[in-house]
Amino acid sequence: TSTNAAIDPRFEIARIDRRIFGGFVEHLGRHIYDGIHEPSHPTADADGFRADVVELVRELGVSTIRYPGGNFVSGYRWEDGVGPVEQRPRRLDLAWHSTETNEVGLHEFARWLELVGSDLMLAVNLGTRGTQEAIDLLEYVNADADTAWTRQRIANGRSEPFGVRMWCLGNEMDGPWQLGHRNADDYGKLASRTAKAMRMLDPGVELVVCGSSGSGMPTFGSWERTVLEHTFDDVDFISCHSYYQERFGDAQEFLASGVDMSRFIASVVAIADAVAATKKSDKRIMISFDEWNVWYLHNDEGGQDDKPVEPGWPVAPRLLEDQYHALDAVVFGDLLVTLLQHSDRVRSASLAQLVNVIAPIMTEPGGPAWRQTTFFPFSLTSRLAGDRAISVPVESGTFESERFGTVANVNAVATLDDDGASLFVVNRSTTAGEELRIDVSALAEALGRSLSIAESHLLHDDDRYAANTLADPERVGVAPLTDAAIDGGILTFALPPISWAAVRLG
Ligand code: AHR
Repeated sequence: TSTNAAIDPRFEIARIDRRIFGGFVEHLGRHIYDGIHEPSHPTADADGFRADVVELVRELGVSTIRYPGGNFVSGYRWEDGVGPVEQRPRRLDLAWHSTETNEVGLHEFARWLELVGSDLMLAVNLGTRGTQEAIDLLEYVNADADTAWTRQRIANGRSEPFGVRMWCLGNEMDGPWQLGHRNADDYGKLASRTAKAMRMLDPGVELVVCGSSGSGMPTFGSWERTVLEHTFDDVDFISCHSYYQERFGDAQEFLASGVDMSRFIASVVAIADAVAATKKSDKRIMISFDEWNVWYLHNDEGGQDDKPVEPGWPVAPRLLEDQYHALDAVVFGDLLVTLLQHSDRVRSASLAQLVNVIAPIMTEPGGPAWRQTTFFPFSLTSRLAGDRAISVPVESGTFESERFGTVANVNAVATLDDDGASLFVVNRSTTAGEELRIDVSALAEALGRSLSIAESHLLHDDDRYAANTLADPERVGVAPLTDAAIDGGILTFALPPISWAAVRLG
């Protein structure tokens, strides 16, 4: 089939907030211990951080990293993770049925962030704790005054405040699995009280209130409305979380996941703006899509994460170690396209997660670290994306989705900056190749010069289930689009079925 599209700077969506390329590190499984932190590893530095992992995280290009959870934060006592390491308590982590040693806490994680070049985004525990503990943590982290908490911070080696701007008011409080789960009214009141107190301490913080843990939750929609009715004046963002997987062997339906994400975002925006209207307010609540990924959560055909857990309370057990294949990476690339298409309202997003746990980076204790298939669309989109997102209208072949009706095979977005433009595009069809003809003449005109292809990358594998593993860590990667050309203001190239590509025009 042939696809006609255009990149025209007049179709600007918004300036891109770099926080859209964020990540998420939770104390879960082998994420921290045996993942980023393994003192006995040959590449470990004096603080125990693996240099090979640091290098891969830098290459991935993550802007802001959400920490320390996830479900973990709803039972976390942040004080356990500061002070002399040998005096820190071992605790049961009820969320993941593990033992938390607390060898890594706030200071260690902040040091690791300096190595990887990312900013910290913190979550407070509104599961088993409340407003007082949240403002204690904020004072410890951000206060520039002489107090008991800041004295402790200084004694623990940090004289300057950490200066953390983004704060999540708990995690997935709508989920019955969450420690301290509440209904929307109770959570909304607690979040509002806590947000007000946090702003009294530090008016510069940006606050994220919990939205639904998925658009399939029974309370989805009414949760957002009620929570925002309580917190509208107190918060800047509402969170969205969404995970996708192939179910019942239906790859075509899985490839429509971007449509689901797009509708989810549009629904939350509509609810937030409806609350604004009832409050006669021009304020716009932004979206922090602070958990998104492919995750084989359901074991109903191809799921991996309903495995029996290790008995007892293990330290750093192997949990949620999904192995991603080429098809997963194409869906994942489309989710990034979708986030960019909504960059007018999605001002922050966190890929869940980073290392070993549903992650683009895997490690073996004492052994290598490698890139999963999903690493490539993330690192390329983060590196090539410019300052502004441009909508790319597309006419292509279509397929019929059970949930979404007629869906376009091709989905694309472009970004613009002073030096050129980048195109991110996916072919969602499992059967049809697409011959792309993209009119870039308006782009050339806007830039005042003719365009050439500076670089191009195609992610596709004839075996859609091919993956990178410990035994074969470079099985799947990206290759240049060998047929890409620009002639008479038209960019052409072919996309095979189930493929993702990025093209840089300079
Ligand atoms: O990312 C894994 C888990 O998924 C997080 O801990 C939780 O917030 C979500 O349900």
